[in-house]
Amino acid sequence: MCGIVGYIGHRDAYPIITNGLKRLEYRGYDSAGIALYNGNGLELFKTKGKVAQLEVISKKRSSNAHIGIGHTRWATHGVPSDINAHPHTSNSGDLVLIHNGIIENYNSLKIALENKGFHFESDTDTEVLVNLIEYVQKTEGHKLGKAVQLALKEVVGAYAIAVIDNKKPNEIVVAKLGSPLAIGIGNDEFFIASDASPFIEYTKNAIYLEDEQMAIIRLEKGLRIRKIKDDSLVSPVIQELHFSLEQIEKGGYDHFMLKEIFEQPKAIKDTYRGRLVGKEGLIKMAGVDDHLDKFLNADRLIIVACGTSWHAGLVAEYIFENLARIPVEVEYASEFRYRNPVISSRDVVIAISQSGETADTLAAIKLAKSHGAFVFGVCNVVGSTIARETNAGSYTHAGPEIGVASTKAFTTQITILTLIALKLGRLKGTLEEKQYIETVRGLEAIPEKVSIALKENDAVEAIAKVYNQAKNCLYLGRGYNFPVALEGALKLKEISYIHAEGYPAAEMKHGPIALIDENMPVIVIATKKGHYDKIVSNIQEIKSRKGKIIAIVSQGDQTVRELADHVIEVPETLECLAPLLTTIPLQLLSYHIAVQLNRNVDQPRNLAKSVTVE
Ligand code: G6P
Repeated sequence: MCGIVGYIGHRDAYPIITNGLKRLEYRGYDSAGIALYNGNGLELFKTKGKVAQLEVISKKRSSNAHIGIGHTRWATHGVPSDINAHPHTSNSGDLVLIHNGIIENYNSLKIALENKGFHFESDTDTEVLVNLIEYVQKTEGHKLGKAVQLALKEVVGAYAIAVIDNKKPNEIVVAKLGSPLAIGIGNDEFFIASDASPFIEYTKNAIYLEDEQMAIIRLEKGLRIRKIKDDSLVSPVIQELHFSLEQIEKGGYDHFMLKEIFEQPKAIKDTYRGRLVGKEGLIKMAGVDDHLDKFLNADRLIIVACGTSWHAGLVAEYIFENLARIPVEVEYASEFRYRNPVISSRDVVIAISQSGETADTLAAIKLAKSHGAFVFGVCNVVGSTIARETNAGSYTHAGPEIGVASTKAFTTQITILTLIALKLGRLKGTLEEKQYIETVRGLEAIPEKVSIALKENDAVEAIAKVYNQAKNCLYLGRGYNFPVALEGALKLKEISYIHAEGYPAAEMKHGPIALIDENMPVIVIATKKGHYDKIVSNIQEIKSRKGKIIAIVSQGDQTVRELADHVIEVPETLECLAPLLTTIPLQLLSYHIAVQLNRNVDQPRNLAKSVTVE
């Protein structure tokens, strides 16, 4: 993980870098640092903690610097500390480097460098890399760019790096393998960052470096991109960015998470906008249309994902099997990639990832491709690595999601996958026309219904007050709502640090029921359509063991209201669309509990939004 930012141009680099780092704190916030070239030499400030702390310690910086690099860290090698914070300096003090990724062979490189007289202050792999570059530079007399290139050929692992040489302070050298790196192109100025958010107010033009590419960025002379392997020149592909500064700011909400929860009606609409066409409810999705034969002839779909995206995949399993009658397997990408899975060219692999950068999902894609499978991506971040590595795909168009706990990504991923399942179901004839149209209309009505569900916010906040001291929570659901229970529990764990378990309601009696007593809040999703009577029986079982019941019910429900301690209503919808509504109160419940416990909602401890390490 980690976020990197750099600037070279005519403006003051400091505010660009520090503000940019704040936008990248979703990638990790264990420590922060900045190196600036002030005209006389390099100034370096770094500290454990967040960018706000970096701003405190860097107040005494001397003057305007027009070149600099900064870093916000999610610790991998070495504890979060001042010393392990980036940027890291080479032994001579000439080179400074920031790094997102992991150098896997750092230990052998470190020993080799120690034998050559190098010493190390930190426990990081990054300090090894900056000294390796220095070693190559000094022993072989190369310029910085060449030294970086040769050093990287010795490296096993993943990186997005930026390096400055104190002796040649008119250039920044960047390189990428595995971790993302975007270069913003301004007028005689360049921005470097892990994603485009740090420079969106300065330029809408960006280059996303590909793996095994590096760029030498020089003041006045511009930029040159080369392949690390063979030094060949690469013509830059400049992409236009389609998001605004406003979209990545809080817009009056206390937290990004709350803003993103409330953005869901719009985000879901944006996801199907332009894809659901006309009165006949045609579904047009270029990524699917261009490869229809792959989908229609698929023996099965294999969905790979992590975290919340994996939960969206579980919902999709129910949807695809029901609507399109295609067998589906849903896999944790991290397990899939290491277990020698049986994959064939008749499989369609769907990779779901909000960030499009998750290392395990990326590795799963590569594995599937190497076995000849057709790989389809469902990503939110445009131009992300997974979006580029897949054979085809569809963007969710949810807009930037900044809160570490994923919310609108989940509902928009389900929306995309529902569209695909509907399309395939109609074409395969597994879905009757009437049911198809009814589901399409149901989907179109979802944004309005999410808005209604959001009106329960105050009621959910009041319930949160009753349970915010709980030590454990159980979440139960059946059918389509089972993955929602898992997702509800994950949300609570992530941001409130309360232990929570999601379970299929019927499985409760095979274990979790032993945990139920008068102190155990049990959140039960009990909407009208789908196994309602069964879940009412489950509620009775909980009640007879004195568990506290918070039930998510359909509007107007009376039966559960009489049994439960609290009910939260959501509008009625088709069974297959229920997750898009039932997840809303669960997101709000976690949010309010976390706020009431004074947790850092948007940046919970130990987590990061984009997990670019395995
Ligand atoms: C991290 C985030 C989660 C996210 C997961 C998968 O753990 O904190 O919110 O669901 O990664 O991320 P992806 O970007 O691949 O959806």
